[in-house]
Amino acid sequence: MIPFSLKNGTLCVEDIPLPEIAAQYGTPCYVYSHSYLTERARRFTKALDGAGKGKALVAFAVKANPSQAILASFAKEGLGADVVSAGEIRRAVHAGIPPERIVFSGVGKTAEEMRYALEIGIGQFNIESVSEIEMLAEVAASLGKKAAVALRINPDVDPHTHAKIATGKADTKFGIAAEDALSAYEKLASYPSLKIQGIASHIGSQITDLAPFEAAAERIYEIITALEKAGHAIETADLGGGLGVRYKDDQPEPPSIEAYGEMIKRVTKGWNCRLIFEPGRSLIANAGILLSKVIRVKESKTARFVILDAAMNDLVRPTLYDAYHEIKAVTPSAQAYQADIVGPVCETGDIFARNRSIPAVKPDDLVAIMSAGAYGATMASAYNSRPLVAEVMVSGNKSALIRKRQSVEDLMRDEQKVEWL
Ligand code: LLP
Repeated sequence: MIPFSLKNGTLCVEDIPLPEIAAQYGTPCYVYSHSYLTERARRFTKALDGAGKGKALVAFAVKANPSQAILASFAKEGLGADVVSAGEIRRAVHAGIPPERIVFSGVGKTAEEMRYALEIGIGQFNIESVSEIEMLAEVAASLGKKAAVALRINPDVDPHTHAKIATGKADTKFGIAAEDALSAYEKLASYPSLKIQGIASHIGSQITDLAPFEAAAERIYEIITALEKAGHAIETADLGGGLGVRYKDDQPEPPSIEAYGEMIKRVTKGWNCRLIFEPGRSLIANAGILLSKVIRVKESKTARFVILDAAMNDLVRPTLYDAYHEIKAVTPSAQAYQADIVGPVCETGDIFARNRSIPAVKPDDLVAIMSAGAYGATMASAYNSRPLVAEVMVSGNKSALIRKRQSVEDLMRDEQKVEWL
């Protein structure tokens, strides 16, 4: 389905014109299409059906969008969760994701987080270093529990993506080097409080070519074979997330979920383990937009600036990664102009698009910053004392507020003046 489309000259989310959303919930706000995100989840599950032994686990990467309404929607579709903190575990469980469908990744798990995860009974720890093995062994022993562990192996594959989101190269902080895998598993096997459950890898994000995924999976299988030869049973293989999505209208669609599924089925044919996947962006990026209003259009000697009520604190991807997001006028006029589209934050980097050709918008017009469902709201901050914005979910002609807009009072609630200053 197409979640955002022009109907009678107005951009709509499913069946609702976006001006109605703006009138009801205010701007800026994030708007998500429920039908689209459930469709993506179903497509992912279906595409991996029959891959590996038993039913594959699709564990949504909570970091991409930790909203309760979104996690609850994915829980209903039978998805699990890939988490990287105790906070994300709490959110996933609260949204109804069964603990046994949770995998816990991350290089800096603390003893406290491990304890929490063990008490709640998560399905798997993806462990990223030998010192982490030691810490988990101690924590599990102190609780009288046996932790189910996969070691995250760094396959040293170049995912051909932005350097800040590439994780599978040997020089990143992630995972255990492939050549150290065997000795790390030996170490793991020596602890009675740990159980070898599987192997894991994740090579990066916004990957638009299937070849690096294939190379990583092959590398992982070599290690599985070596481990089995050494007498270790590997029940699960977590092949991570990272499938890219289309951000530019005029660019070809990256490999579809189905093409990814076909590749996985071909490459993992004959593997004797249950497969786990950790997609984030591919499930949610294009299900969401950031809806914003034009405050003013400022003409300078060198450029035209369209100043929005949304800013880098609401959506940081363009500032942080020079990421491209389509920006659409909600009621586009026939005339177009070139402009820098910026926010009101006092930083030169507060810019959504440079020298972009867009329909000539004027103050109070609405614009939609597209593909903002993943790593949008979740990376927002209150910089410049700009409260976190509202989030809205739409299904058909129904809409609901899924996160209330913060107030400045909310921002100050936990602050205190100090008497002796
Ligand atoms: N699993 C692990 C261990 C990860 O580190 C990540 C993302 C994922 C799964 C999900 O990857 P996805 O399917 O969403 O590509 N903030 C950046 C993206 C950072 C991704 C970090 N790890 C952005 O806005 O592009």
